[in-house]
Amino acid sequence: MAASAAGIASDAFVFFGATGDLAYKKIFPALQALIARDGLDVPIIGVARAGWTLAQFQERARASIESNERIDPAAFAKLLANLRYIDGDYADPATFAQLRQLLGAAQRPIHYLAIPPSLFATVVKALGASGCARDARVIVEKPFGRDLASAQALDATLHEVFAESSIFRIDHYLGKEAVQNLLYFRFANTFLEPIWNRHYVDSVQITMAEDFGVQGRGRFYEEVGTIRDVIQNHLLQVLALLAMDAPTGRDVDALREEKLRLFRAMRPLEPREVVRGQFVGYRDEPGVAADSQVETFAALRLHIDTWRWAGVPFYIRAGKNLPITTTEVLVDLKRPPVPIFDEIGARDSNYFRFRLSPEVSISAGTRVKKVGEDMVGERVELVARRQLAREMSPYERLLGDAIAGDGALFTRDDSVEAAWRVVEPVISGVRGVHLEPPAPYQPGTWGPPAAAKIVAAREGWHDPQPEANAPC
Ligand code: BG6
Repeated sequence: MAASAAGIASDAFVFFGATGDLAYKKIFPALQALIARDGLDVPIIGVARAGWTLAQFQERARASIESNERIDPAAFAKLLANLRYIDGDYADPATFAQLRQLLGAAQRPIHYLAIPPSLFATVVKALGASGCARDARVIVEKPFGRDLASAQALDATLHEVFAESSIFRIDHYLGKEAVQNLLYFRFANTFLEPIWNRHYVDSVQITMAEDFGVQGRGRFYEEVGTIRDVIQNHLLQVLALLAMDAPTGRDVDALREEKLRLFRAMRPLEPREVVRGQFVGYRDEPGVAADSQVETFAALRLHIDTWRWAGVPFYIRAGKNLPITTTEVLVDLKRPPVPIFDEIGARDSNYFRFRLSPEVSISAGTRVKKVGEDMVGERVELVARRQLAREMSPYERLLGDAIAGDGALFTRDDSVEAAWRVVEPVISGVRGVHLEPPAPYQPGTWGPPAAAKIVAAREGWHDPQPEANAPC
């Protein structure tokens, strides 16, 4: 991300879980793009236990790129030439002896754990014991733990073998163009800072809506639920970028320090400030318990105890099977203190809107007078950025940064742990937390009606529309 990427670039890329879904959907296409864009030219070693040959693995790479992207003949040829494959059990030292051999003279390999978290410890320890971790980096996929205790245990395991500066925890939201632009827009403009506080901001809403269900991932979803799946990580990260103070320098840790301070100022959630929902039909999904209490929707109210944000509610809402697929942030400003012309309703005040997906859009809601005799107004949205063009994929950006040793877009141990502290009181079963069962909602609606009680009645939820700059 930053112009000044830290450290020496990695000279070998290893990925565990090489025959899995993530590799198929994201990693191969990202590697081809990195070869095409950055000229990445290092050994690319896949490790898995599938009983495959190198030829089968190469075929998988082709199928992956054909179905997710387009083959770029020159880049793909280079990918194939650099591809190696180790078929082996992660519990078998011979797998890692083979890896050590294939790494050859590589000075700074990078190991990507695209595997279930239950296997992290086995692989990390084996990397250490075999010498494959020497001067190496490691990339870890989400979910990073199930709660604070498991995240701390995972951190302890990683730290036995890798220094924190060599650990790259992926949150793909941080690699999105729109999320980057949110950060840029905040700190590359001076006009925002004087109003970016409790004196001018009335409330903030973040909605992440998906118009599909769990898409065959019922078993996985039973283990997580919405709060763990997208709120503890993606949406709290977005919130941190929205609300943090300006970093005090350009180095990687300056940004991460400010984010950490923000996470630490978030008040842990209280069950009465959260409404959980479950879409009707979820329990019929394969892998889902008939009496599942897992939420597929959550709406919550968060508070940030700083001088900047005291008293400003931050609302977050996320769910599966909602009316559309989009992620949008709405920062509502206060109304003018005295109405001089027409009455300005709660929904008519100025606002900033950041559309994070599917397109990038940044806009500001303003009021202007309607043509005519009366001094009455209407709202006009000023659009600062509206972009539908294909962006660099988050994985391309993040893998490229990790290979370059630039950790700015990755989450640090203390931030991940601080984020768990915020959500833990509303995760059923963790530290004796017992919650109301999730309220049912019909697919295609904005969650259970009870979600309305989370926001102040005069504002209500702002429901994003398919058109990015549709009236609020
Ligand atoms: C993943 C979650 O982390 O993010 C999924 O596990 C979710 O449940 C996905 O659908 C959303 O990501 P994106 O980039 O499609 O908005």
